[in-house]
Amino acid sequence: MQRVKSMYEITKEGVFQLLKKLSEAIGPSGFEDPIREIVIEELKPYADSMWVDSLGNVIAVKKGSRGSGRLMLAGHMDEIGLIVSHVDQKGFLRFQPIGGISERVLLGQRVVIRTREGRVVRGVIGSRPPHIMKPEELKQIPEIKDMYVDVGASSREEVEKMGVLVGSIAVFERDLSFVGGSSDVVTGKALDDRVGLAAMVEAFKAVDGNEVDVYAVATVQEEVGLKGARVAAYSITPDVALALDVTIASDVAGVPEQEWITQLGKGPAIKVVDGRAATGLIAHPVVRDKLIEIARQYNIPHQVEVAPGGTTDASIIALNKEGVPAATVSIPSRYIHSPVEIVHLGDLVNASKLAALFSSKITSEWALSISRRVIK
Ligand code: CO
Ligand code: ZN
Repeated sequence: MQRVKSMYEITKEGVFQLLKKLSEAIGPSGFEDPIREIVIEELKPYADSMWVDSLGNVIAVKKGSRGSGRLMLAGHMDEIGLIVSHVDQKGFLRFQPIGGISERVLLGQRVVIRTREGRVVRGVIGSRPPHIMKPEELKQIPEIKDMYVDVGASSREEVEKMGVLVGSIAVFERDLSFVGGSSDVVTGKALDDRVGLAAMVEAFKAVDGNEVDVYAVATVQEEVGLKGARVAAYSITPDVALALDVTIASDVAGVPEQEWITQLGKGPAIKVVDGRAATGLIAHPVVRDKLIEIARQYNIPHQVEVAPGGTTDASIIALNKEGVPAATVSIPSRYIHSPVEIVHLGDLVNASKLAALFSSKITSEWALSISRRVIK
């Protein structure tokens, strides 16, 4: 492999184009193929070596100048989605969720189904018409078992002819676009975690003068149990790791200030803890503080985050073998796990820059000293 030597500049236009491509592609957990192809294409010119492992993780390496110390960057490729579980006589599709997809956001959505041959079929999520429901029923959120995907077919045979079978997967149909008159705030689907993935890709391209070997890992199956990151960490044995993912920005109408967690447009968040009662990741304090130090030194706007729920690949990487000092750089996102997620492109640019600077500036000595402190 021949890697490009010229300096890579992270720009708002560049990250928008990449995010648009990644966000609009179809890739629920375990079915990340189109995302993987984009990531390979993007990372290849910047990598010294690269491979795809048995679960489908993409691993790209940029060799460091010292030949010791390994940094793992992780951004997950998968998104939440649906999987067809039954096709009935009339051609209606029953489905199960892939990952944490809430009934509250399903009804009334357009979806795209990807067939095994890679064809894309549009459908809508329907349920019994409200006109024939009892008043108390109208107030309830329907359960997934009471919904179906309607692809406009009139028989099971017709559905099969479209290539749609039990096991076909579907995601929201949604393009990435700006809201209001803004050139900063975008809305779309799967920003969890295509925005973190985009930040990782951009950071990897921009890494320059690194002492440590930098491993960019586009992980699979995060939404269904942090599975890709787990095996990738085992194979790499990193000395230090960062996950790039979304975090909750609940700085919205009706939410009091103390419950905002992060604010949109105020910079990437450096995590202290996440998960219910801190059961997710407790970020390694030395790595966390290094991120804050680098952000301050290079004037990168940032916020510090204590998240009351959810977690990222970092929490499983931290438990690899004898342990890995791990932290998280997160992009504040509104309406996570819905088709109208919102992020600020400035936060994405700054998250990319922070991850690139961290990767470029940490020394081999520092990385090795935190992963094992020898007592003399
Ligand atoms: Co998620
Ligand atoms: Zn995520």
